[in-house]
Amino acid sequence: MADSDLFTPYKMSKFDLSHRVVLAPMTRCRALGGIPRSAMAEYYAQRSTPGGFLISEGTMISDTAAGFPHVPGIYNEEQVRAWKKVVDSVHAKGSVIFCQLWHVGRASHQVYQPGGAAPLSSIDKPISQRWRILMPDGSHAIYPKPRALNHSDIQDMVEHYRQAAINAIRAGFDGIEIHGAHGYLIDQFLKDGINDRTDEYGGSIENRCRFIMQVVKAVAMAIGADRVGVRMSPAIDHLDAMDSDPPKLGLAVIERLNKLQLELGSRLAYLHVTQPRYVAYGQTESGRLGSEEEEAQLMRTWRRAYQGTFICSGGFTRELGMKAIADGDADLVSYGRLFIANPDLVLRFKINAPLNKYVRKTFYTQDPVVGYTDYPFLDSGKQKLSSRL
Ligand SMILES: Cc1cc2nc3c(=O)[nH]c(=O)nc-3n(C[C@H](O)[C@H](O)[C@H](O)COP(=O)(O)O)c2cc1C
Repeated sequence: MADSDLFTPYKMSKFDLSHRVVLAPMTRCRALGGIPRSAMAEYYAQRSTPGGFLISEGTMISDTAAGFPHVPGIYNEEQVRAWKKVVDSVHAKGSVIFCQLWHVGRASHQVYQPGGAAPLSSIDKPISQRWRILMPDGSHAIYPKPRALNHSDIQDMVEHYRQAAINAIRAGFDGIEIHGAHGYLIDQFLKDGINDRTDEYGGSIENRCRFIMQVVKAVAMAIGADRVGVRMSPAIDHLDAMDSDPPKLGLAVIERLNKLQLELGSRLAYLHVTQPRYVAYGQTESGRLGSEEEEAQLMRTWRRAYQGTFICSGGFTRELGMKAIADGDADLVSYGRLFIANPDLVLRFKINAPLNKYVRKTFYTQDPVVGYTDYPFLDSGKQKLSSRL
């Protein structure tokens, strides 16, 4: 296998990337009160490289979208202005950055909702007690019963995505990623293990895909399809997001995205799919659903079906990433936890240097330095480095 596989240039829609190592979107809970702060500019700049591609942490499209403490928003002017500083710091280092648009749906709690209202979802059933929500004080609670969105709420929600995308472009982002994965709002429509609606947004695959497709189309028409990425995780059951036929569901979304691309006369920027081997993030080191070969087959089926740039994420090492690119299983590979702990992950991969270990307990804390911007670079002193290796 050529060592250069992750380091061959790639053209992703209008963007010339110099390598294939992407920063995966990761919630880090450092945006106090929903406003990005200067530590975030430093964090993202640390992970930027000339011709690199970064996807921001999940960013709230409206004031009902949060389900974690201190996640940033992109629905008011103060947030747009604050994001601009983050984006500028990334551009100054030569990277491309997309904003991940997020609504958690029922994966929320009254404490995160305006007026202490119930969270919103496709349905009115809560996430099971197998799962716990992280509260603002660091404790964990059970998920409350949500309120099912009615027809006009759904139209409003599509509009929130559209406006958030426009705001992201105004903040200087190069594009946006629609978070349709991991059991959050869009996934709450997609999966038949959750969605029991009896109207045109539930039941058949056609109906369950309706919401995501309305969102993708509205956003693509507002900012241009080539600035829009879509994330999905048909085979991941995070937050009870189970489906009776994940391969079929994944193909159904892909067919519709392919069709939309034809209709709009432009490809989307990419499709980003989370590998089944990455389950229960933030809970366990990693998990497995099927055998490695079954998973690889499933990802390959989706990859071949999708007409455009395909990004894989979930449990990738340097070697697995190299192999995915070399085997044609992905165009780009996004890295999460390794990138948290290694701001210079791209360089370390390039020279095959040892990696810092990530510290899980600071993933979602608010300190602007500890566990956030203080992971050492290769050149930041041998002593400091060796103590973490
Ligand atoms: C702390 C943390 C926060 C995450 N937040 C998000 C998020 O906001 N949006 C998202 O789509 N995925 C999120 N993920 C999933 C990552 O994007 C990625 O798919 C996952 O970490 C698997 O990749 P890895 O094995 O390289 O870490 C998060 C993961 C971690 C560890």
